[in-house]
Amino acid sequence: MKRIWQISLHRWCKLKRQTAFSKQFVEHFSEVLKILEGALKSNSSMALNYASLLADKLESEGGQRQARMLRERLTRTPLATASAQDSSNGVSLGNLPTDQESRLHTVDVSRPQAQDIQLVLPSAIQTRLDEFVQSVEHHDVLAHAGAALPSRMLIYGPPGTGKTLTARWIAAQLHLPLLTVRCDTLVSSLLGQTSRNLRRVFEYATQTPCVLFLDEFDALAGARGNERDVGELQRVVIALLQNIDALPDNTILVAATNHEQLLDPAIGRRFAFQLPVPLPNENQLTALWQHWLGEFAPDDLDWTDLARCSQGATGALVELTCIDAKRAAILAGQRVVEPPALYRRLGLTLALSRGIRLSTQEQEVCWLRNWQPERFSLRVLAALYGASTRKITTILNDLGEESGNRQRKQHA
Ligand SMILES: Nc1ncnc2c1ncn2[C@@H]1O[C@H](COP(=O)(O)OP(=O)(O)OP(=O)(O)O)[C@@H](O)[C@H]1O
Ligand SMILES: [Mg+2]
Repeated sequence: MKRIWQISLHRWCKLKRQTAFSKQFVEHFSEVLKILEGALKSNSSMALNYASLLADKLESEGGQRQARMLRERLTRTPLATASAQDSSNGVSLGNLPTDQESRLHTVDVSRPQAQDIQLVLPSAIQTRLDEFVQSVEHHDVLAHAGAALPSRMLIYGPPGTGKTLTARWIAAQLHLPLLTVRCDTLVSSLLGQTSRNLRRVFEYATQTPCVLFLDEFDALAGARGNERDVGELQRVVIALLQNIDALPDNTILVAATNHEQLLDPAIGRRFAFQLPVPLPNENQLTALWQHWLGEFAPDDLDWTDLARCSQGATGALVELTCIDAKRAAILAGQRVVEPPALYRRLGLTLALSRGIRLSTQEQEVCWLRNWQPERFSLRVLAALYGASTRKITTILNDLGEESGNRQRKQHA
């Protein structure tokens, strides 16, 4: 009886190992195909890159033994030794695509790390983003079940809301290098060269494990037929559409734009995942302030009030204000940013972002007083500007009424 039990257990374990193996095989089918493609095309760096990626994935899923075997096999190839010197997380990026005219690279490579990125987004948007990362990670299993969407995401929203940061976050989560297309070198003055450059970039991205990122996407994908349209732009849009269509579903493409309304209508449907990034609400503003002020935040800071006063600000504006305030505090030998100084910086940055030029201290005083009369009392303003309350009263009397009217008009 004991013997029969042992045999059954042995068979069950074997079956379980086989099932685990076939599951792993399905999950990593695209890496296997890419390795095969690299071998058939005699593109050893492609085969090597995807084999390294496969080893990383197997290791992260508990397949240490297979990962070790794979890496040992890879280290025996001469190319691996050479490329290991210029690769950090297993992916070597030699021979980047270049523009033939200028000889400059048409992509920039970066390797974002998750611990360096603090992304603050509304929960619904964050959920969509997580779904995208999960679909990319499990693309092969989903494809096997006929439920995969192409790994392409379009990010859109106002300037400074974190679109580029989101692309960096995606690359960091996937442990892949980020290849940002350089529109300045990609768009060539030579007729037809732009389309050729595009093709090279897309081909390169299919042969390298990476996230291909088209930032300021409207520069390339602007609608055909608008008044500044010329023949070359039409050709670029057509080339872009063709390149996207030819892209394997599992090549990760992320595009970002401030002007989604300018995109050619044919572009939108090529992106199965779309991420609208809005201005931060009060909760997200609080999180952004807390992140950027860090240990420079004073104990008595009213976060809710700060978030309310900064409504309409972008993440970029919060970052800029905090750096500015921290810089001033450090230079003044202080260990925290005092609330009046912080609100002053916020007020001035908000004025700047609304196109209001405050070129004298008198104008600043009036702007701050009209913006937040209770916070910026005569005493606070006097302390901030190193003047007497009498002087501040004079400034406000001279300039206050006039600038208050202007400010009210701008708010209206
Ligand atoms: N949602 C956010 N979460 C965290 N940080 C943010 C966010 N939005 C902006 N920031 C901060 O502002 C900086 C600029 O953001 P980013 O460059 O990603 O904006 P963008 O939307 O790409 O702007 P643009 O449209 O001008 O290119 C970031 O480095 C980050 O520090
Ligand atoms: Mg950007």
